[in-house]
Amino acid sequence: MAALCLIRELTEAREIVRTARAIVAFSGAGLSAESGISTFRDAGGQGIWDRYDPQKLASAQGFRSDPALVLDWYRERRMRIAAAVPNAGHVALSPASRVVNITQNVDNLLERAGAQEVTHLHGSITRDRCSSRCGFSEEVDLANPLGLRACPRCGQHLRPDVVWFGETLDPMDWEDAEKSCRECDVLVVIGTSGTVFPAAELVGVALARRVPTIVVNSERTGAGRSADIEIVGKASVVLPQLLSGGR
Ligand code: OAD
Repeated sequence: MAALCLIRELTEAREIVRTARAIVAFSGAGLSAESGISTFRDAGGQGIWDRYDPQKLASAQGFRSDPALVLDWYRERRMRIAAAVPNAGHVALSPASRVVNITQNVDNLLERAGAQEVTHLHGSITRDRCSSRCGFSEEVDLANPLGLRACPRCGQHLRPDVVWFGETLDPMDWEDAEKSCRECDVLVVIGTSGTVFPAAELVGVALARRVPTIVVNSERTGAGRSADIEIVGKASVVLPQLLSGGR
């Protein structure tokens, strides 16, 4: 019965996507899970925030208290991302499929799968920036990340160019993301628990405009319940089926 339902939902969703001109994909950690990058919250208690304290590792206050600890943790994450390979979900979201990508993920797996102009709402682990916001930023070698070092412009510590708890999103990225979700023909929400705001509000933005919304997640979520179609399944399996076929 469950398999039958999945086929029906997938067929309906494919038809919406097939006829859409503008498709927005809003992704979260579940998209990269099958590339070996841990999610933050998982039913099995194996999420990153089940094992580590976000206040120590993902807040400006945590960085001020122990910058070396934070950078050690990011060093491990960066090396893991460098060694990871994009999965079939990332590939399905590449430009050939007419998709505008908005992601909460700080990894670069969408770009490495061929996607261009990805909006990273929570920043990118591929860059460091000055912690005092003097304006300095630089690309980092994910395979060989450096430890704690001073900003060459102002002498303050450099930190990963990601959005930590308590920090605001880049206003231009947010404006673009909201506009895309308001104006698209279909919003596909992939692999996110939908618990971190304001990013999670994008689903509400689309629903308020009656934009058809499809949620693809390995478990049921709140966003899935309010969406037009909820497909429970792995991103690497569902997305190639959903996005193949063209118009
Ligand atoms: P979460 O870890 O909160 O949610 C990941 C979701 O993906 C869960 O609902 C899983 O069930 C689902 N999932 C796991 N594997 C999957 C798969 N193979 N296919 C499809 N779905 C799968 O991650 P996010 O919602 O992205 O913020 O978390 C949002 C933010 O919280 C992150 O960007 C991060 C974190 O704190 C910052 O770093 C600022």
